[in-house]
Amino acid sequence: MTDFMSRQQGHLMLGGRVDLNVLAARHGTPLELAYLPQITRQVHGMMGWAAQAARATAYAGTFLYAYATKANFAADVVRTALEAGAHYETSAAADVKIAHHLWKQGILKADRYLICNGSKEPHYTDAILRLRRAGHAAVISVLDDLDEFAALRTCPLPMQFGVREREAGNRDGAHLGNDRFGLTAGEMADVVAGLAGTPHTLVMYHAMIGSQVEDADHFLTTLRASIRNYCELRQRVPTLRFFNYGGGTPTSGYRLDFEFDYTGFLTLLMEEMRALCLEYSVPMPDLVGEFGRYTVANHSVYLFDVGQVKRGAEGQPDWYLINGSLMVSIPDSVLVPDQKFVTLPLDGWDRPLRAVRLGSRRTCDSDDVYPRPGKAPLMLPDSGVGTVIAICGVGAYQQMISGRGGAHHCLSPEPRRIIFEEKDGQLVQRVEAAQTQAELMRLIGYQSPMRQPAPTVPMHPSLWPTPVPARRIKALRLRQRPQVIQAGIPT
Ligand SMILES: Cc1ncc(COP(=O)(O)O)c(C=O)c1O
Repeated sequence: MTDFMSRQQGHLMLGGRVDLNVLAARHGTPLELAYLPQITRQVHGMMGWAAQAARATAYAGTFLYAYATKANFAADVVRTALEAGAHYETSAAADVKIAHHLWKQGILKADRYLICNGSKEPHYTDAILRLRRAGHAAVISVLDDLDEFAALRTCPLPMQFGVREREAGNRDGAHLGNDRFGLTAGEMADVVAGLAGTPHTLVMYHAMIGSQVEDADHFLTTLRASIRNYCELRQRVPTLRFFNYGGGTPTSGYRLDFEFDYTGFLTLLMEEMRALCLEYSVPMPDLVGEFGRYTVANHSVYLFDVGQVKRGAEGQPDWYLINGSLMVSIPDSVLVPDQKFVTLPLDGWDRPLRAVRLGSRRTCDSDDVYPRPGKAPLMLPDSGVGTVIAICGVGAYQQMISGRGGAHHCLSPEPRRIIFEEKDGQLVQRVEAAQTQAELMRLIGYQSPMRQPAPTVPMHPSLWPTPVPARRIKALRLRQRPQVIQAGIPT
């Protein structure tokens, strides 16, 4: 059916190996399934297509695949992408701290680039500087404004910088939110001037036009002006060697009829790059793509059960009410206009179809429905109660936006999660339990009934009405120090 979902002997199969019907029967629903080999397949697939395109165009630069971890920070996911050969793109201070931790553990290799994007508050620049000082030299800070440059250029060790082009995301005017990223040409000139006399170099030009760009011609046409800008800057800055087109590479995860010629796109991009570099007499840069959705969207699936059917309002489709929350599981269905998720029944493919909307039985929110009002309903078998449905393409952004591991809307618990991975040529699985009521209560501050409430913290000594001996103040301060739990991640 797609490059990640197939139907074999009446069963739905994820990655051709994970039988959704068997798992639903064995574990019940709701259930989350994560098939990590799909991530490896995505990374290797793109690397192969880039190699093919480079051969076809005799492209002189290399191609770097970076995983945009913001799509899914889960440890298994990031580790799998790195093991497949990906470089690492960060979006936040915490992300750099995770990378630092992985680098210390040897999971992020010294030759893998860390490409640091986004607007950088001091704790983000500090995390970058700490990693650089600790010895990871392959860090490229892509500047989003001049303040962060001022903070980072103080580093006594040589730093590699990138500049993000502000214009790139605004050229097609599709998403106003892109306007807040990056530098103008004038600000880039300030960066170039500011690097003079420092040990640092400008190595990367970053131009990202959007996300899930399914029209290859539009992708290229929109990038063309950025490639020219790169070439002009390269004429003045000989250390520039990477052209990074950011995210935007589309995933197959959201539509059954998805088609995108990845090799064709990369071939056209390399041809364009080569022609413009020739025109400007500059060398062909190494190409970098930052792949978020493309890497992870299609590696995971949710399974839900229809527990109740309700007649819809006059002229409206009926409701299939499920044992989960759409808002929690696929928040983009509410946040992103026109966002679609492939929704398939496990059984009943030969039954008559019925137009329905899904509604959540785990929240009492009128917005917790899919598809949204005004959008076409789903066509699912008329099997009603007991129909099990798979919602596909949920591996990118959904859990991060929803706050994986947290307390969710109407305390809808996260379901049991089964993670499949390849170990020594064998597919192995790990089962993580569903969130429990006790866990949810602890997350939002309820004490376990078995434990005594925590002692209240005394008022700060300076606010006490009578003077307190210095020795006692010191003892109190020690006791009041807040506990910071970092789960093994360096601060
Ligand atoms: C700088 C940057 N790179 C890469 C990505 C990943 O984009 P996508 O998920 O479209 O691959 C994003 C997403 O917001 C981004 O902001």
